[in-house]
Formats: sequence, structure tokens, C-alpha cells
Amino acid sequence: RPQLSLDPTCGLMMEGVPLSAVADEIGTPTWGISASTLRIRARRLLTAMTGAGLSVSVHFAVKSNDHLAVLRILASEGLGADVVSGGELLRALEAGVPASKIVFSGVGKSDAELRLAIQKGVAQINVESAEELEIISALAVEAGRVVDVALRVNPDVDAETHAKITTGLADNKFGVPYDEALALYLRAAALPGVRPVGYAAHIGSQILKADPYRAAYARVAQLVRATREAGAVVSVVDCGGGLGIGYRDEGEGSPEAFAGAIRAELGDLDVRLAIEPGRWISGPSGVLLSTVILRKAVTGGAPFIVLDAAMNDLLRPSLYDAWHGVLPLSPHDAVQEPEKAHLVGPVCESGDCFARDRMLPPLQRGARVAFLDAGAYGSVMSSTYNARPLAAQVLVEGERWAVIRPRQTVEALWANETTPGWLNGDA
Ligand code: LLP
Repeated sequence: RPQLSLDPTCGLMMEGVPLSAVADEIGTPTWGISASTLRIRARRLLTAMTGAGLSVSVHFAVKSNDHLAVLRILASEGLGADVVSGGELLRALEAGVPASKIVFSGVGKSDAELRLAIQKGVAQINVESAEELEIISALAVEAGRVVDVALRVNPDVDAETHAKITTGLADNKFGVPYDEALALYLRAAALPGVRPVGYAAHIGSQILKADPYRAAYARVAQLVRATREAGAVVSVVDCGGGLGIGYRDEGEGSPEAFAGAIRAELGDLDVRLAIEPGRWISGPSGVLLSTVILRKAVTGGAPFIVLDAAMNDLLRPSLYDAWHGVLPLSPHDAVQEPEKAHLVGPVCESGDCFARDRMLPPLQRGARVAFLDAGAYGSVMSSTYNARPLAAQVLVEGERWAVIRPRQTVEALWANETTPGWLNGDA
């Protein structure tokens, strides 16, 4: 993690900014994002693709981190966006991503969302079912438009990742069953309002090896050939996202191996290629800063370190048993002999646990820590459960940092709530 370093006097630094200074000034819990990490990783991915001799358009998966500043940085690096809702579409446009670089995916897009996408002129809508194809056709005809669609096929391969983030198996809800894809493509070619341009496949997330990609793309390549033999034009393959990162000691997914899998299976098809990475770019760029509220001793066992961040902020450990690295911010804490402890949040759920039996320096009340690799599926999955306001967010670049979302106020939690008159004793 080149953008995080330990300074002997300032403690944990993100780029040129001591994270304790951020915590001192705006408190915790607070998300920190490193702009340079976003840029470096976006460039590495682009370089891996061009290095493999591929011309690939990169659509950042907005769901992994949808902050306008993040999207603006990545747009300035030339990336487009992969969106899965009307909200994400409007966010991407607001951040300056042109509609012509936006792909709209998702298993259930509402009529309103589809109308919006058609009206804004997105590059492509990825169709996930026969039913959806008919709906898009009707809505496009109604709008007097013809939209480019790609069929998202379910290649039925195992991405070898966590069950909750596997999407490419036949019993997952995603995509058109492989064996039905060709017939549906030909149906699309005959429908008004839609123009089938190709296929899309996304088999899951946090994928560390190239083999599942190769298996999936081999199936897609077969489908492209069969479709062409049937007389239809195929000009696009969207290879999805899913490249994993090293949360612990598993090593990260290699962009070069990913590019190699694409080239090996799809390189000679003469199609325009696209990818939809999220986590690989945004994950390592973010941290979540938190303060120890208290240290609860357990007789004969590891203490509970109760933090001011909780599952409502960073849900991944509760939902997927995900492992996030934890580092103390203070240079003093960083060099203490580690002990075994449980790191938990204050929310009233046993599942509100970040780490059990984790070896950490002895953290006392007031100590501050950073959760690592929290830039993807972190702030975006937060809720206000237990009436806990959304945490602040800061962006760091070089020696500068700025608040990019102030801490939500408690009053904002109920600002839009009303109580009907009859509850207030009105007539
Ligand atoms: N494209 C599609 C169609 C997707 O469904 C996803 C992620 C991506 C691209 C981006 O995948 P990535 O490159 O970020 O792996 N909340 C979970 C991850 C859910 C991923 C959902 N789909 C987590 O925290 O691990």
C-alpha cells in the first residue's frame, strides 16, 4: 500500500497527510480516500490492458464507491462508468462522466430508470433477461430511440470466491442462461428500439485467479462465434469486473493476468472490449478511521476493544466475515508488543464485530485506528442503524486534504420525517 506509510513522529500517513491530524480536526469515524491511489491503480489497469495489446474501455463500477470526487478523479483518468441504478447514472453524469461512456447493468431496472437511461443516451444497456429485453424495446420505441444492448450471459462458472458475491453460477439470479442466449440475441435483432451489439459477462467479485475468467470468456467466445454463424453482428464483449485485492495475505488479483485471460480467449474476435472493475481500483485507496471508546476487560480472555465505528459504517466484516487490516494511527501505539483482542462496534448486534482474536497493539481508550482497504463497498454500504449519522469523508492528495462530505448531523436523520396531524392532537 504505497500511499500509506508509518512516520516515526507523525504516525500513520496517507500520502503526505498524517491521519491523526485529520482525526484531530474532524473527529471519527471518518473515511479517508487517497486520490493518488485511485489514479495510480486506474493507470495500472489501463497499462495492463494496452500492454497485452488490447484496446479496452474501462467502466468503473460506481457501486464500489460512488462519491462524486472519486468519480471525477477516475473520469479525468479517462474511465467511464458501470451503473446499476438511476441514482448511480445521475451521479456519474453529475461527476462529468459522459453518457457515451456509461454502461447500465442490473438485474431489475425499473421503467423510470430505463426511460432515464434511454433519454440520457447511455452507451449500452446490459440486458439480464428475456423479459427485460421486451420492456426495453417497448420503452425505446415509446421514446423514439434505438438503444444498444448487450446480453449479460450467465456462463455458469465458479468464480471461486465468497458465496454472497458469486454471480456467474446457473442458480444465481444474474444474466441470461447460457443456453438461451443465442436465441434471445436473435430475438433482439428482430425487435424494434433495440440493437444487440454483443455480450456481457460478470462472474463475481474478489476474484484472485485468472482461471475462472478464462473459463467464462471461453464460453462467451463460443457464443460470439455461434451468433455470427447464425448471421447476426457481434461487435462488443463486456468482460465484467471482479478483480480482487489483497485484504490479508492472499495477494491481489493481477491486472496483467486479467488482461491475459481476455486476450487469450477474446483477443482474436475483432470485438470492442470493455471491463467493469470496482474494488481493484477503489478498495486499496480508502481507510476508515475510528477511535477506541473503551477497552472492556474479560477475565481470562481477550479484551473487547469497543470502537466508535460500527457495522452501520463498515458492513463487510459482519456481512461476509471479511478481514480488514487494522493499523494504529499513533507512532507510539504502532511499536507496542501486540496482544490478542476483539474489535467491536457499539451497535446492539452480536454481529457488530470487526475482528475476533486479532493481534493488535494494546489499544487504550482514545487510541485511534485505521481500517485498511475500505475504499470499496465501505461508505456506500453504510446505514444509519441505531440512529448513527453517516461518517465524514475526506479526500487526500499529496499534502492536501479536504472534507468531501461533512459528518451527517443527528438532526438530519429526522429532518425529512413528519408525524401526521392526528398524532399531534390536531383535529
Ligand atoms: N459489474 C457488475 C455487473 C457487478 O455486479 C459488479 C459487482 C461489478 C462489475 C464490480 O465488481 P468488482 O470489480 O468491484 O468486484 N459488496 C460486496 C461486493 C459486491 C459486488 C457486486 N457486483 C463486497 O463488499 O465484497
